Amino acid sequence: MTESLQELLIELEQFGLSNDSAIADRPRRMLNITRDTGEFLSVLARGMNAQRVLEIGTSNGYSTLWLALAAKALKGHVTTVELSDFKLDLAVKNFERSGLFPFITQVHGEAGALLRRSPEFSFDLVFLDSERSEYLGWWPDIKRVIRKGGLLIVDNATSHSAEMAPFVAMVSEDTEFTTCTVPIGNGEFLATRVSP
Ligand SMILES: C[S@@+](CC[C@H](N)C(=O)[O-])C[C@H]1O[C@@H](n2cnc3c(N)ncnc32)[C@H](O)[C@@H]1O
Repeated sequence: MTESLQELLIELEQFGLSNDSAIADRPRRMLNITRDTGEFLSVLARGMNAQRVLEIGTSNGYSTLWLALAAKALKGHVTTVELSDFKLDLAVKNFERSGLFPFITQVHGEAGALLRRSPEFSFDLVFLDSERSEYLGWWPDIKRVIRKGGLLIVDNATSHSAEMAPFVAMVSEDTEFTTCTVPIGNGEFLATRVSP
């Protein structure tokens, strides 16, 4: 990692913490993953040669940068979707500063619509960090777009375990996937497609 990217990530970590502790209005909060989660995402993406990554929930792009760092090394690409104009604008500025913009496609819109128009098996890795009440409804399409051997990672598995429980139960019962929860950051729920 370059020194300037390292500095940007540290700046974003400090901004996220100070912003979110001062602001109660959820649409204005960054709600970023933790640094150890970012490192975990980047290592997993590299380890599985994830060249086609989908992130659902960009915010200001902190987690995207960790995924894009892996994409750069793999000559891969991260597609990231975000509903909020405000956050999309923040993310653009951060992507420009990062030097990783060539490895990122920003989609301004609703994640469910993006999932519906994405072809079957079109992603190696899906990182889900968005509106948790939507996850159950999105699952059929998330499942459809992940290729065999591909991986779904979902944030907030332990920080919001009650909210996540129905989704975790549904995916865990799906015989086409094998799952686990990793106690890192806010808790990451992992599901890998083992068949067909
Ligand atoms: C927890 S934040 C993402 C944080 C980001 N992954 C990070 O760690 O830096 C969730 C984001 O999902 C966005 N969001 C919520 N519902 C959405 C939807 N239906 N489609 C796309 N984005 C959505 C919110 O605007 C918010 O920015």
